[in-house]
Amino acid sequence: MSRPRHFLQFKDFSREEFEHLFQRSRWIKDRFKRYERYWPLSDRTLVMIFEKASTRTRLSFEAGMHQLGGSAIFLNTRDSQLGRGEPVEDAAQVISRMSDIVVIRTFEQDIIERFAAHSRVPVINGLTNEYHPCQILADLFTFIEHRGPIQGKTVAWIGDSNNVCNTWLQAAEVFDFQVHVSTPPGYEVEPDRAGLLGTAHYREFADPMAAVRGAALVTTDVWTSMGFEAENDERRRDFEDWQVDEDMMRAARPDALFMHCLPAHRGEEVSPGVIDGPQSVVWDEAENRLHVQKALMEYLLLGRVAE
Ligand code: CP
Ligand code: NVA
Repeated sequence: MSRPRHFLQFKDFSREEFEHLFQRSRWIKDRFKRYERYWPLSDRTLVMIFEKASTRTRLSFEAGMHQLGGSAIFLNTRDSQLGRGEPVEDAAQVISRMSDIVVIRTFEQDIIERFAAHSRVPVINGLTNEYHPCQILADLFTFIEHRGPIQGKTVAWIGDSNNVCNTWLQAAEVFDFQVHVSTPPGYEVEPDRAGLLGTAHYREFADPMAAVRGAALVTTDVWTSMGFEAENDERRRDFEDWQVDEDMMRAARPDALFMHCLPAHRGEEVSPGVIDGPQSVVWDEAENRLHVQKALMEYLLLGRVAE
């Protein structure tokens, strides 16, 4: 049996494969908007294993699979044997014999890597402590829809160097753009954890106002990611000066977009005026999760579908 392809981190796919996915996402989105049925995955089953909370990821995969003609089964750790210590390798053997594709949201990247190594079917990363590749797939698609190619542009990442930040950094290497990262001291990028080839595609700034200069996109995320709640109070103090506000947006390019993967905390990492303001594309960004992930599932299950 040939090994299935997985999407466990952004760099698992080539730029050329992403270009194909974007082209398919446009086609799938357009058909969906015209209420035209497209059921290429009828009789296929998606299993979704979630060890952390989710609104967008769960809904976009579950609705997306139904819209492609297949079905989706949601398992949380609480009511499956995974929560009672069944080895992830055993779970992978069993689940992948009963389904066609799997999405996992979990803690350490190692868990999803081990599952994938024992899976007969494609595995998609629906967020780990280290990465969130489906999010950046949607974010890039959204940027391109609004502003065209991202190659050569500057993206400013303000805040925590978390899973979403790491994935932006991998995307910069694949698509050849620059990321200006500004984190509080002690929260800097860890290149090994981010899985980077080198440091050519990002630069770190102590001052967030300096980081946004020249940026075509300013983006941020919560100060405390899921799984790190014990650090909440400390992080609130440490990140105080890393709020994306109107002054910061004024220091970026006049046509800069604002993105946030959501859920957001208005008054913490972003001011209400920015997230609800004219430069924000957060709702397009959230909607596009649906379209790009449908293209991703189509690609992993059917290969290159021609229009
Ligand atoms: N952005 C994102 O992944 O949202 P959820 O946590 O709601 O899935
Ligand atoms: N960095 C956040 C993203 C949530 C979608 C977290 O991991 O909680």
